[in-house]
Amino acid sequence: MAALARSVLRYSARHEAAASDSFAAHVIHGLSDSSKWLSAKYFYDAAGSALFEQITDLPEYYPTRTELRILHDHAREMAGYIPLSAALVEFGTGSTRKARILIDAAPQLAAYVPVDISAEFLNQEAVAVRRDFPWLAVLPLVADFTRDFDLPSQIRSRPRVGFFPGSTIGNFEPDDAAEFLRQAGRILGVGATMIVGVDRIKDTAVLNAAYDDAAGVTAKFNLNVLTRMNRELGGNFDLSAFRHRAFYNAEEHRIEMHLESLKDQSATVAGRTFDFRKGETIHTENSYKYTVESFRTLAEAAGWRPVATWTDEKDYFAVHALKL
Ligand code: TRP
Repeated sequence: MAALARSVLRYSARHEAAASDSFAAHVIHGLSDSSKWLSAKYFYDAAGSALFEQITDLPEYYPTRTELRILHDHAREMAGYIPLSAALVEFGTGSTRKARILIDAAPQLAAYVPVDISAEFLNQEAVAVRRDFPWLAVLPLVADFTRDFDLPSQIRSRPRVGFFPGSTIGNFEPDDAAEFLRQAGRILGVGATMIVGVDRIKDTAVLNAAYDDAAGVTAKFNLNVLTRMNRELGGNFDLSAFRHRAFYNAEEHRIEMHLESLKDQSATVAGRTFDFRKGETIHTENSYKYTVESFRTLAEAAGWRPVATWTDEKDYFAVHALKL
C-alpha cells in the first residue's frame, strides 16, 4: 500500500504522451515501439506495492537502510537548514518513516505537507503523524507530484522545505530530473530549501545485486507488471516465458530493468497481439546513479545552490541540501 504513493512516472518526451492515458493505451503505445517499454508507474498496484516494501528489507537492497542511517546520523545538522516555523513538503510520500526523522529533529517545523496520489494512504498516514506530533499542522495533499500543483493556502506565509527521499529522482531521465527540480523550485518559491536523497555510483556488483536479489523478490516485482496486464487488460502473457534482467549500464550511469523473452512468442493484451523474439526485452525501469559532483551539477543547472551533502561510511548514498 505504502508504495502506491511512489508514483514514479518516467515522463521524458516519449513517455509523456502515454502517461496521462489509460493503462491500456499506455501498454499499446509502449509495446508497439521498436524497443518495447512500459512506464514504471504501473508497478505499483497492491501486489507490486507489497513487493516493493519487501525489496526495501532485502539484504542486497542497500538504499533504504543506508538513507535511513544517514538521516538518523545527521538529522540535527539537516534541521539547521530548516527555518523557524517552516513547512516541510514531501514529494511522493510512499511512507512517512523518513520525514518523521526530520520532524523529530526539527521542532521548529510548523507544518507538514505530504503529497501523494493515493488519498486513502495519505489520510491514514496523516492521522498517525498528527497523533505523534500534535503541535504540527499536517496538511495532506492529493496530487501527482510530477505535475504542477498548488500548495495549501495555510502555508502561504511560511518558509518551505522540500523533501524528496528514496532516490526517486534517479527514476527520472536526467533531463526530467532537472525539470522536476525546477518545477519543485517554482512550487516552493524563493528562499526555499530542498533535501534530496540520491543513490551514488559504486561497485557494479553491489549495484547489480541490489536490483537482482538472490531471493528473487525484485524479479517478482518486475514480472508482476505482466500479471497485472493479464488481469486488468485481458492479457495472456506466460510468466514462465519471461525473465527479470537488471544490470548496471556504466555508460548511462543507470540500472536498467527489463523483462526478457525466453523464446520467440506472441502475447495478446488490450486486444492487440505483440511478437517477441527470443532475447528481446521490455524495458521497465531505470535507476540513475550520481556522484556527489554530478548531482550538484544537475541541481545547479536547475537553479538550486547545493549547500550541504551528507553520506554514509561506504559512500553508497548521499542526502543533499539545496537552496533556491
Ligand atoms: N528509487 C528507488 C531505486 O531506484 C526505488 C525503486 C524504484 C526501485 N523502482 C524500483 C527498486 C524497481 C527496485 C526495483 O532504487
